[in-house]
Order: sequence, then C-alpha cells, then structure tokens
Amino acid sequence: MPLDIIIGAQWGDEGKGRITDLLAQQAHIVARYSGGDNAGHTVAVGHETFKLHLIPSGIVHDGVLCVIGNGTVINPVVFLREIDGLAARGVDVSPARLKISRHAHLITPAHIALDKAAESALGKDAIGTTQRGIGPAYTDKANRTGLRAGLLANPEALGDAVLAHVEAKNEWLVKIHGAEALDGQAIAAEFAHYAQRIAPYLADTSVLLDEALQAGQSVLAEGAQGTLLDIDHGTYPFVTSSSPTAGGALTGLGLGPKVVGKVFGVAKAFSSRVGSGPFVTELQGEAAVRLRGTGANPWDEYGTTTGRPRRVGWLDLVVLRHAVRVNSLTDLVLTKLDILSGLPEIPVCVAYELDGQRLDHFPPEPELLERCQPIYETLPGWQEDVTGVRHLADLPANALNYIAFVAAHTRTAVSMASVGPEREQVAV
Ligand code: GDP
Ligand code: IMO
Ligand code: MG
Repeated sequence: MPLDIIIGAQWGDEGKGRITDLLAQQAHIVARYSGGDNAGHTVAVGHETFKLHLIPSGIVHDGVLCVIGNGTVINPVVFLREIDGLAARGVDVSPARLKISRHAHLITPAHIALDKAAESALGKDAIGTTQRGIGPAYTDKANRTGLRAGLLANPEALGDAVLAHVEAKNEWLVKIHGAEALDGQAIAAEFAHYAQRIAPYLADTSVLLDEALQAGQSVLAEGAQGTLLDIDHGTYPFVTSSSPTAGGALTGLGLGPKVVGKVFGVAKAFSSRVGSGPFVTELQGEAAVRLRGTGANPWDEYGTTTGRPRRVGWLDLVVLRHAVRVNSLTDLVLTKLDILSGLPEIPVCVAYELDGQRLDHFPPEPELLERCQPIYETLPGWQEDVTGVRHLADLPANALNYIAFVAAHTRTAVSMASVGPEREQVAV
C-alpha cells in the first residue's frame, strides 16, 4: 500500500484538515511532515469541531495511528495543551496512538520571542508570521544549533542544552532587538517537566513508517501550509520556513519517492492568504466580503490559528499550475464550492500580464509578481444550493463547467469537490 500525500495548493487554509479526515477513513497511519503550530486544521464531524494545530487530523478516527515526522517543529507546551484538550473530549491520545520523531525540532520561548522581535523590527515590511517561533526554530535546524525532540528522553543533556540555547538567544534578544532577556533556568525547569510527559511519545518514525508500508498498510501524509508558502517554491520571502510541498513530505517523514501513490492538491474554489506578500487576484471591498464572509459562520475566512481576517480573491490557475508542477499532483480537490453558489458570473485568472507580456507561469523574480495583473476569463455562475450534493455528476451544469475548466487549464483531474465543512459534504 502506498504513501498518499495531501498538499495545500495555494497559501494554506485550503481545507487540508477536512480532506485528511475524509481520506483517513481508509488509512492506517496519518503523518504530519512539516511546519508546526502555525497550522490550524479544522475538522467538523456532526456537532463537534476540532481545530488541530500540531496533532495530525487522523486522530479524530479511532484506530488510526498518528505520526509527527522529523520535518516538523514542535512547541512542547502546545503539544501538551492539544493532547489534553483532545483527551478531555474522549479522544485517545496515548503514546500507543501517537508518535513523535526523535529528529523533529523543538520550539522554545526564545524562538517565539525572536519571531516577535524580528517581525516588529521589520515594521511595515513584516512577513505577518503567526508568531509561533517557526522561522527561528527552522533557522536553528539549518544552522545545526537546534534542539531535537530526542533530547526529551535525556533529562541531563536536555537541561544543559536548553540553558545554553536560551543564553545564546538572549544575546540576540538583548543586543540586537533591545528586548528583555529570558530566564534560562526557569525555561530549562519547564522543559524538564514537559520531557517527562512527552518522552513516551518518541519513536524512530522513519523505521515505523517503512515497516508499516512494507506490511501493506496505507499512510496518509498531511500537509500543512501550502505550496505558495514553501521556502523554495513559494512567494519568497513571504513564505514559511519549511517545505510544505511533496518533496518536503518525503524528507519530512524519512521516506523515498518509490512509495508514493497519489498526491492530492487541495485548493479552494477561490483564493485566500493570511499575512503579507503578493496576491495577484486579491479583491477588496464588497467583493472581498462576499468571498470572506463577515465572520458569522464558522467557515468564514478568519484564521484558525490567529483569528486574522484572510485576504481573498478569485481562483488563480497560474498558482494551481505551479502547484501541479512542483508537487507532481495526481489529483486536485476543490473546496468551498458552496461559497460560489449564487454569483451571476465567476472570473478565473488564467494567466498574468506583466509590462504588456502574457505570462503563463510565475515570473522568475519574486519582486515582479507584485506588478503582475490578472488576465481573467469569466465563467457563468450557478444559483443552486450545492450543499447536499454528494456526486460530482449531480452538481449544476455551470458548477461542473467550472470544475472542468480548472481541470483543463491545469491538466489535472479534479476528483473531489467539497460543498460544506461537514465530513460528508463532499462530492466525488
Ligand atoms: P486547512 O488549514 O487547510 O486545514 O484549512 P482551515 O481549516 O484552516 O480552513 C478551512 C476552513 O474552511 C475551515 O473553517 C473549514 O471548516 C472550512 N471548510 C472546508 N471545506 C469547506 C467547504 O467545502 N465549504 C465550507 N463552507 N467550508 C469549508
Ligand atoms: P495551515 O496548515 C495559512 C503563513 C503566515 C505568514 C507566513 C509565515 O492552516 O494551512 P510562519 O508563522 O509560518 O513563519 O508565517 O506563513 N502561514 C499560514 N497561512 N495557513 C497556514 O497553515 C499557515 N502557516 C503559516 O500567515 O504569512
Ligand atoms: Mg488552516
């Protein structure tokens, strides 16, 4: 059985959590491979809604084993808060069901303080990070000065490492940013306490996943963030610090390409982005409110992690073609199709115009993206309520036409479309 990968095809918040939840019904293992608690994945099941940040969305399915892979960064406080919250709701979060790679990196209060200080120093040029310490933790990883989760099983080494880490970061916080120094002893003591609870979750997850695949089990890799937030393939520097794309799934789990089955790219039927950076099809005013919602519904476009209103715009097929290419997507999954119901017509961006030239791909220099204008084709809308549709063929003709247009312009099958936030609100 293969490793199927779920990737965000845009700027995150495409609905990866709910699609992971759907596909987890047929999986033995669900594994997160990149990012940390900058992610916010919403899974709605009946009257219950789960907002997951670090724990894979598969946790909602009894019997599914969950893995947090080596490519992730873990804030121990968030991990413990999240498992305690899930346990209080009757979810089994015992170490028998949930494994953390020893090679995942830890996020500390010093990383969070540095993230905030760096953002504040950038002023109007700030990236708009989630301020969860993600960038500084991956910086330490690349700089070979990070703290790996395996340390949690070695109390003595952990205490020394945390103390040295905070002292080193204090130099930056105080001398460069003029911020307050953190108390290394207190943080080391906190980490010693977290270690007692987290150590039983540690495992060699690369071996575990390989053995599971060899035994015929199926593994679902749950992406966080999205292709356009990828450190290499996104709208740099307005990106996150990890590799949410398909290559990152392999590096982030310790597996090779031979085991890959399907690669699902999840895309909203329109576009959204939180944080700064270029967004060619962005809308303002009334048109934006129509797509974002006012915040009255739980699915309106306000960040799961930060509560920030998301920037919204029409669907951008230049973005989706980019996602198809860098991830080798086998399938596209369109979410929130229901939000487009009732529009008389729907513009879709098919290419960009830059200085009078038509571009079918992103311009090579990220700065040029700011100057690109969308070239739209306008498709007829549909007035019908689609929230009860469960088969693609039963969608209104103009919704089917919209999906066919996306498939044709990306040369990729659209194998599912979601029509509401609930688990069963998917047309296949
Ligand atoms: P993720 O980060 O990719 O998992 O996505 P988020 O959970 O951050 O954001 C997606 C939002 O859209 C959540 O509030 C979901 O409940 C909601 N959602 C997902 N699919 C649909 C859909 O088909 N229709 C509607 N109305 N809401 C949806
Ligand atoms: P999910 O998994 C949407 C964005 C931030 C910011 C940039 C860098 O829910 O789709 P970071 O804190 O990672 O250094 O911030 O990336 N960002 C996300 N946007 N969904 C996410 O995750 C995101 N994770 C990070 O808003 O622009
Ligand atoms: Mg999200």
